[in-house]
Amino acid sequence: MLKVFLISALLLLTSQAAKYQRTVKYDNEILIRCPTGVEGMKEFLQRDDVDVWRVTPDGLADIRINKNLIQGTDIILKQCTTIADVEELVQQFENMTASVRLHGQAQQEWHEEYHRYDEIYDWYKELAEQCGERCQFNSSIGGSLEGRVMPAFHVGSPAVGKIYFQCQIHAREWISGATCMYIADSLTNNPEGLDMISKVLDDVEFIFVPLVNPDGYEYTWTGDRLWRKNRRENSGSACIGVDLNRNYNDHWNEGGSSSNPCSETYHGVSAASEPETQNTQSYFKTNGPIIGAIDWHSYSQLILRPYGWTNQDSPDETQLKEIGDEMSEKIKAVFGETYTSQKSIGLYPTSGTASDWFYGEDATSTNGAYRAAGYTVELRDTGSYGFLLPPEQIIPTGMENLAAVLEFAQRLIDDPIPNPNNSHKK
Ligand code: ARG
Ligand code: ZN
Repeated sequence: MLKVFLISALLLLTSQAAKYQRTVKYDNEILIRCPTGVEGMKEFLQRDDVDVWRVTPDGLADIRINKNLIQGTDIILKQCTTIADVEELVQQFENMTASVRLHGQAQQEWHEEYHRYDEIYDWYKELAEQCGERCQFNSSIGGSLEGRVMPAFHVGSPAVGKIYFQCQIHAREWISGATCMYIADSLTNNPEGLDMISKVLDDVEFIFVPLVNPDGYEYTWTGDRLWRKNRRENSGSACIGVDLNRNYNDHWNEGGSSSNPCSETYHGVSAASEPETQNTQSYFKTNGPIIGAIDWHSYSQLILRPYGWTNQDSPDETQLKEIGDEMSEKIKAVFGETYTSQKSIGLYPTSGTASDWFYGEDATSTNGAYRAAGYTVELRDTGSYGFLLPPEQIIPTGMENLAAVLEFAQRLIDDPIPNPNNSHKK
């Protein structure tokens, strides 16, 4: 009996090993946590060979960097803490993932693991098939650079309008795709029989684009666990990838993005130069009116509203702040986690981001009676594991964000933002 168990455990471990191969190693790479105000830190944060993992609302930055690069810059290091050996962190994550898989077999355990592109694609297809008329699976909203299709999943009915979610735009933020699956599953199957779900689904249709960056995501399983961008080969540079969340057609290249292909925030050769950006923009536009949209990221636990490119309040600041604050409350009520609600630029300036685009001119111009409330949500955690969030946190993250999503939907059903282009319709 024990022997049988050991053999099946071994088989599972072997298949796990085949499922995940990593070629990029992070020896000598460390994570440091440092106040952004420290002497010399500003310049440091601008460097293209520094990978900024997050900035906190109260001004700390987590950056990944090669040990050897910071020798001699002890002004910075004196006030900073080294929080991890990155290679060790990645290995710990791999071990956790493997051990969960050992007992994760039943369909019920789907949300206790992270999954590959193919599995996710099939899962949404099946979700739609089981669901029947209330759901729709779109096998492709377009192809990625490397030719992978980008599917979409719909559930609900658009009496008032639609709500658009996109996930996994940043490859290494695995909790994004996992949370979207948890939310899609809960909305579709309502396992807890929540009244609010059926109520909301009478008025809105939810659209999920679960895999915005399929090539980058696959690469995090097959080469580099910490890859962020898409897999564009940039002409004239040996560096790969465009940051899709700086490539949207909204105030593109107006600060907070880089023109260096080697940077993690490289914005590409022009607005919406990338097929993944184009596909999501046009899917959004052909599905209007969209009353609300969220671009799901990790990590930091934040709810970010417009704008990222300017300090000015948006014309809907009062309402957008209220929605964000209320989502944060609803999240807190589930497990006590704090998600800070703030303006995007309060974190750091960005331009060409998806969530500014959702709310911006281009998207609004074709959105019928309404203007989409556009948010970026940064999921768990606040820096203990960062991008390497253990799989046992998928369900709790999903549960607290389902609560936020229901609040988001209900508030926008009750009070959708009118499209300023249609002001005569008052
Ligand atoms: N962490 C995400 C990114 O860098 C979110 C950016 C949200 N916008 C902002 N202005 N902070 O793409
Ligand atoms: Zn991100």
